Amino acid sequence: MIRRVRVAAAGEEHRLDQLSAPLDLGALTAGASGPWEVELGFGRGTWLVGRAEAGGGRFLGVELAATYYKILRRKAFSRRLTNLVAIRGEAQYVLDAVLPREFARAVHVYFPDPWPKARHHKRRFLDSLSLDLVLRLLEPGGRLLFATDHLEFGEETLAGLSGHPALDLRRVDGPWPGGPRTNYERKYEREGRPILRLEAVRVREEPVFHPAGEREVVAGWV
Ligand SMILES: C[S@@+](CC[C@H](N)C(=O)[O-])C[C@H]1O[C@@H](n2cnc3c(N)ncnc32)[C@H](O)[C@@H]1O
Repeated sequence: MIRRVRVAAAGEEHRLDQLSAPLDLGALTAGASGPWEVELGFGRGTWLVGRAEAGGGRFLGVELAATYYKILRRKAFSRRLTNLVAIRGEAQYVLDAVLPREFARAVHVYFPDPWPKARHHKRRFLDSLSLDLVLRLLEPGGRLLFATDHLEFGEETLAGLSGHPALDLRRVDGPWPGGPRTNYERKYEREGRPILRLEAVRVREEPVFHPAGEREVVAGWV
């Protein structure tokens, strides 16, 4: 796994085994400043690159597909962006083993694969287990933003998030201010598909587990 993870920042690419864990994000974006925002599964990366170009913060994206990662890397390098870090890797592994904790002001998850077949539901991102990993990225007061066109998946995600004691959750009615954020959102809005959007704020200072995720964990000492 570790050998397949790539990290691109400030015109250079690194293999994960050449870097320290958790990643020293400050060193990767030397000279840049401002709050961090993270996008998980950035696809073609249009939104993330646009945000980084506009400035006013630092941005990090995680994407499993090598083709999409390379597209973002090319855009970031050709624009000489020093406030954008792109990671090619599996999001749960990256959240668990690679990224520091509580560094992000916002985490964005837009149109994650819905895995519609029941036997694949456990692969869905933002179930009670992956949610706890995502929340570890957020500083207290940080926000998690989510959108999907798969309404059953969206309602299930909403139910899971609303059961989390660290979150203050709301449905976002209508489009985001500023219009569609990602390629999928632009396409689905054009097609007139209903989209479920959520915003959750981490309201607790101390880390808290999701009650459903916690059930399977047993800790003991002698
Ligand atoms: C349906 S696309 C949405 C892309 C983009 N967020 C958008 O809205 O245009 C889902 C993206 O998540 C990525 N993805 C799926 N599983 C992933 C995982 N476990 N870790 C990281 N990225 C993943 C896919 O490669 C794909 O680019």
